[in-house]
Amino acid sequence: TKPLLVAFDGPAASGKGTLASVIAADYGLPFLDTGLLYRAAGHLAHVRDIDPAVAATLIDAETLADEALRGREAGERASRVAAIPEVRAALFKYQQDFANQPSGAVLDGRDIGTVIAPHAPVKLFVTARPEIRAHRRWLQLVKLNPALTEAEVLDDIRIRDERDSSRSSAPLEKAADALLLDTSDLGIDAAIATARSLVKSRL
Ligand code: C5P
Repeated sequence: TKPLLVAFDGPAASGKGTLASVIAADYGLPFLDTGLLYRAAGHLAHVRDIDPAVAATLIDAETLADEALRGREAGERASRVAAIPEVRAALFKYQQDFANQPSGAVLDGRDIGTVIAPHAPVKLFVTARPEIRAHRRWLQLVKLNPALTEAEVLDDIRIRDERDSSRSSAPLEKAADALLLDTSDLGIDAAIATARSLVKSRL
């Protein structure tokens, strides 16, 4: 397979991570979930009580494997530290190097098509209505926290959308040349089929 760079962006729980990993497997490309880097920075800053921009420089394979990064608190902390320009700067080179490796790559995040890999030939912006995203995220999180309600998750999602879209440093935004994929009314199989054909349409 020839090198290919694919950028997936979109709001929390839009399905972009699932779709990005399927596309990566299809084309045999390395895959980076960049949200995990922000989650790790926020989590490390909290548990070690250090500056988030310093925490961002300490991320390694071990910190990325921490199960706590999947939880609700880690997502919330991630979106707060992600608004700090020094945190974004500290994570920039790793992401750009990942994107530019000779094999090509698939990255998912908020600013891949706009900041990290604006030259990517294939960009998908994956979204869904907030209520749908809240329902999906709740199904995942309730396994870790049985007391969690869907309304609480919807509140989190709305706060996170607002914070991610309004920050001045690399806000969540569709690149002009990104293809839009709204997964609100698509089941997982239909969403995957649509993503595959959108990617093909750009090759
Ligand atoms: O995608 P995930 O929910 O893991 O992302 C957590 C948070 O990290 C997002 O709400 C966003 O604030 C931040 N993020 C970002 N840029 C990225 C990926 C994630 O700002 N490329």
